[in-house]
Amino acid sequence: MPEHVLDFEAIKAHAREELQRNWTGEYFAPHLEGAFPDNFLWDTCFVAIGLAEDEPELAASLLLQLKRYQWPNGMFANQNVDATRPGTIIERANFRTDKSRDAPENLPTSGFSQPPMLAEATLAVAEKLDKDERSVFLDEMVPSITKYHEWLFDTRDINGNGLVTQIHPYETGMDNSPPLELHVMDNRTQMERLLTSRLIMAVFGPAIDSVRRDFRHAPRHQRMHNASVAQYQLLTRKLARAEYDIDKILADPTIPLVEDVTFNSIFVRANQHLQTLAEQAGIPLPERLRSQIDAQRSALNHLWDPYHKTFYSRDARTKLPLKIKTIGSLMPLYATKLPVPHRDHLLDDLTDTSQFWTQHPVPSVPLKPSFHHDGRPLHDSERYWAGPWWLWMNSLIIDGLEQNGDHELAAMIRHRSLQTIANLHRSSGKMAYEYYHPGSGEGLGVYPFSAAAAMIIRLVNETAEAHKGLAKALY
Ligand code: GLC
Repeated sequence: MPEHVLDFEAIKAHAREELQRNWTGEYFAPHLEGAFPDNFLWDTCFVAIGLAEDEPELAASLLLQLKRYQWPNGMFANQNVDATRPGTIIERANFRTDKSRDAPENLPTSGFSQPPMLAEATLAVAEKLDKDERSVFLDEMVPSITKYHEWLFDTRDINGNGLVTQIHPYETGMDNSPPLELHVMDNRTQMERLLTSRLIMAVFGPAIDSVRRDFRHAPRHQRMHNASVAQYQLLTRKLARAEYDIDKILADPTIPLVEDVTFNSIFVRANQHLQTLAEQAGIPLPERLRSQIDAQRSALNHLWDPYHKTFYSRDARTKLPLKIKTIGSLMPLYATKLPVPHRDHLLDDLTDTSQFWTQHPVPSVPLKPSFHHDGRPLHDSERYWAGPWWLWMNSLIIDGLEQNGDHELAAMIRHRSLQTIANLHRSSGKMAYEYYHPGSGEGLGVYPFSAAAAMIIRLVNETAEAHKGLAKALY
């Protein structure tokens, strides 16, 4: 990788311009031009984290805006449909959340959530607000996050083990991550197998292609397969029929359920953040929630595989691990300070050039296929969550490394990420891509992508901070 002097300020200003292109007047759509025009939960959290340092008031308004969509039962949906934009009929017909007694009235949203980054985003923003603004902001946000986390524990800890269950791969934010995608495809009913068969896909492929907004903005080999999209759609229909009610969902054995390692790692960390927030706001957390948080401390151990020495997501019904390594396997680093042997195994995998230590790390799926029953190659460097790297995932890994004491490795990933961005800045001026090729560093997916732009701003700020620290140490 050629080394160049990084012009931090130019990169940051440019990323801010890229972000602005997705501004709707109220929120930053992940990709306004078409692929993702709505307000997405963790995207908006990452945008707020990226903007916290330089524009804390704007960042706070984004989180307050999200809060408007919170369900009365506490849930935050992954996709909040902008009712003012034309043509939302497909989303409304698709999610059918009007069937749920828990959904908010007149606010179309999806019926499932996304990894709970809200506590971290709130903390990042609150730290940068002035005292009075902070206290108003926390008074708004803390009760709402408390309710969200209570909802997660009360409705989603279906095995009573401190792990929360995801009812749709979209809920993990990593749609076609191989263990999740294969789990859904392997659990299809006979009828679903027929409906998503090669033959039917060949016949209806052109019709599906024509409604896939993402195909208009990114090459199809970088997106999910039609059969998986169709099956995910069938799954959404089933969830709608079950009115998004967890008891009805549990009663339908054809709905695959997962205890996802990324979602749960983020939830463990989010609960630590919530405790900090509650203290800052002077709002005590309910006793019950506090004991749920305490009991959750050792929950990730259920996902540790002592034979392969890694963390796997697992089937929430059978409790069997989905034995495919992904970037999620490294996510417990972000959750907490791990016991040293666990940490060291994860660091070995992270720095292994045949797995996660690619030219441009950290890929969403390691290069070398990990153990999987039919030995299919799983890494695809260009396809969405099946191989490319994502700026926000890198940012979580960097944070996890810092937390686990490996500052050098954290600095290396930060530097390599920024170097890739700087190369793109120089060669094409386009930096904020949805994801990137782990071999060539090429930008992939849709452009400009909001959370990527925001994460670039964060990377620059953190690097500049580290340099200041170095300068201080030298003089
Ligand atoms: C895709 C991604 C998800 C993201 C959403 C909007 O579904 O997998 O993580 O939140 O797009 O950008």
